[in-house]
Amino acid sequence: MQCTIIALIAICCLGTGLSATTTAPIAARPAAPARNFYLDLKSILRNIPHKQIEHLVQAYLLNDAEFQAVIREINALTTYRLRLQLLNQPELRQLLQWLSQQLILSGGSLKVFDDLDLEIKVFNKYPHWAQTVNGITGFEQEFNYIYPLTSIRKLLETNAQESPVFGEFWRRVVALEPAYDRFWATPQATTFVNRLRTLGVDVNGLDYFVRYQLGWRNDTSPSYYDYDYNYGFY
Ligand SMILES: *[C@@H]1O[C@H](CO)[C@@H](O)[C@H](O)[C@H]1NC(C)=O
Repeated sequence: MQCTIIALIAICCLGTGLSATTTAPIAARPAAPARNFYLDLKSILRNIPHKQIEHLVQAYLLNDAEFQAVIREINALTTYRLRLQLLNQPELRQLLQWLSQQLILSGGSLKVFDDLDLEIKVFNKYPHWAQTVNGITGFEQEFNYIYPLTSIRKLLETNAQESPVFGEFWRRVVALEPAYDRFWATPQATTFVNRLRTLGVDVNGLDYFVRYQLGWRNDTSPSYYDYDYNYGFY
């Protein structure tokens, strides 16, 4: 999901920059703040409520049988192989390679995502956790409540407009959609999705979440989907 997470916009930025220099003497322009891709990305990632997510996952992992079953499924050997298959998609490999280079050029590295790692402890932090979990649906509701999906999408788009490198990043993320569709159409991925469904996961909701966050969809609600339309998981 960390991929989560982007050249028309870059071209527009360059275009407006160029036209500004030709219509006004350079010295007369207010100094534009220099943008740093690594710092921009880092500040977006800081908006992900990491601690809250960590607590939520911990509460459910320790106390909720439905959630535990989903985590076991995610950790099954077949799912591990599926994850390798996903990471091996040429588009995704190219994006990660480009991302790694750009992060190094701006003084960072892919370690910028390490802050999102979850550290799960074995004992409940609060005793009430034992009673407040409510199945996979409860987890999904709480996650959707704490994760700022629309504001993170806005931050991604605003940064893409303000910085050419970020614009290129966003363009590349948006261009991943066909690879994503191709991957989920494979028999192995379909089997996995069906297993998740059997375990009660709202697969359509999850798919909407990914598509909205990564700029492949603009609708504000999954209910807009036409369920007869044979698209992705539908
Ligand atoms: C979403 O909106 C943006 C900006 O308005 C537009 O460039 C993009 O093509 C739209 N994407 C989809 C999938 O409609």
